[in-house]
Amino acid sequence: MQIAIFGTGYVGLVLAAAMSDVGHDVTCVDVDAGKIAGLQKGRVPIYEPGLEALVRDNQAAGRLTFTADQALGVASAAIIFIAVGTPPDEDGSADLRHVLEVADLVGSAMQEPKIIINKSTVPVGTADQVRAAVKARLVQRGLADLGFDVVSNPEFFKEGAAVADCMRPDRIILGVETAGGRTEQVLRELYAPFNRNHDKILVMDVRSAELSKYAANCMLAAKISFMNEMADLADKIGADIEKVRLGIGSDPRIGYHFIYPGVGYGGSCFPKDVRALISTAREHGIDPVVMEAVDARNNRQKTLLFDKIRARFGSDLGGRTFALWGLSFKPNTDDIREAPSRTLMEALWAAGARVQAYDPKAMDACRQVYGDRSDLVLAPTQEAALDGADALALVTEWKSFRSPDMAEIARKLKHPVIFDGRNLFDPAVAAGYGLEIIGIGR
Ligand code: UGA
Repeated sequence: MQIAIFGTGYVGLVLAAAMSDVGHDVTCVDVDAGKIAGLQKGRVPIYEPGLEALVRDNQAAGRLTFTADQALGVASAAIIFIAVGTPPDEDGSADLRHVLEVADLVGSAMQEPKIIINKSTVPVGTADQVRAAVKARLVQRGLADLGFDVVSNPEFFKEGAAVADCMRPDRIILGVETAGGRTEQVLRELYAPFNRNHDKILVMDVRSAELSKYAANCMLAAKISFMNEMADLADKIGADIEKVRLGIGSDPRIGYHFIYPGVGYGGSCFPKDVRALISTAREHGIDPVVMEAVDARNNRQKTLLFDKIRARFGSDLGGRTFALWGLSFKPNTDDIREAPSRTLMEALWAAGARVQAYDPKAMDACRQVYGDRSDLVLAPTQEAALDGADALALVTEWKSFRSPDMAEIARKLKHPVIFDGRNLFDPAVAAGYGLEIIGIGR
């Protein structure tokens, strides 16, 4: 089948790679001509395991093309995905400008019926706005009878595992105007290659599909914030949150997933989506007490490691150097959006300290955000980050940090302390090397 995907960010690009890999013909459209020129040469601008190879293979096979020509994109397919960004507005609500620009464009250029699919994470009611924008253009052009449908089909892939999640989804949500209609049939056909062993397609109305996306992310964020609060309590009352985690995760109603305490959730989804749903709730006269607490706890959690460092080394950190392991908001990505590492670095700098950071993938992203500054060294290896440092702070649980040479760490640090923001290290084992572990809730 022929499809066009507007937006070549994480969502659009991963979707394009997966759709073309199962045999669909995909045209990717982006207004960023530089990015398109790079993609045409097989240069994938983000790090996502498996993505680059998939893009190159399918480009070579002629099933995946990239263009900055938007009208050509509209003409290329009857199925159009909108996968452009929805950055937060100042009040936390999602900014729909780019989504509505694509809608406007489709309405201005379409010559035959289209199925327009919202893949971007958009607030409840966006499909109605897209429909209105397309319709307005068609009316202007005297084509009011030209048919089109707007579908909500949210994505649920995780950065770092996006290709696998897209290829083997837990569920495929189709929010359609008319259940059982032609649009649903077309989408079932489109998704058939991803829906093989058992039926993962859930058909529902458009608004329920839109809300499902936010509800899923907010529920996951709530699990994390709840655990972070329990960790705080465990710290104060002398319990070990890691024991508690196992104690409660064994209940299948709770489960082991997403109950890892840490330095707070980051990334481009949870923080933004929680705030956007708070804003939607307020717009509808609801006081979103649960979600506000989730957000507030997370903001506090992001400063926790710094508070622990200050409690240990005092408020004036002038002349001190801290090794920092992990910049990305989680492993297997180079994404540092809303990463807890940034909150920590900025607080350390404000208190006069220097940072020697290492991350397996996110060093370029860090350089782009912070540029050259005398209080930041991007170390070539995780071991080099320790040289001359007072203590080590671990923020992201990359695999290479899991079983480091503890003796070397103890030898290199001026003070044998690790601030373990992910409870990666066993305090008893570390103690055998003379290292003190200051973790989260233990
Ligand atoms: C999240 C969702 O997990 C995806 O299902 C969703 O599709 C995606 O948002 C999206 O809306 O696009 P992602 O942001 O890539 O995916 O990352 P997660 O793996 O969910 O992690 C989010 C944050 O929570 C990370 O900072 C991670 O360190 C933190 N986390 C996760 C914890 O602190 N504890 C946990 O137990 C789990």
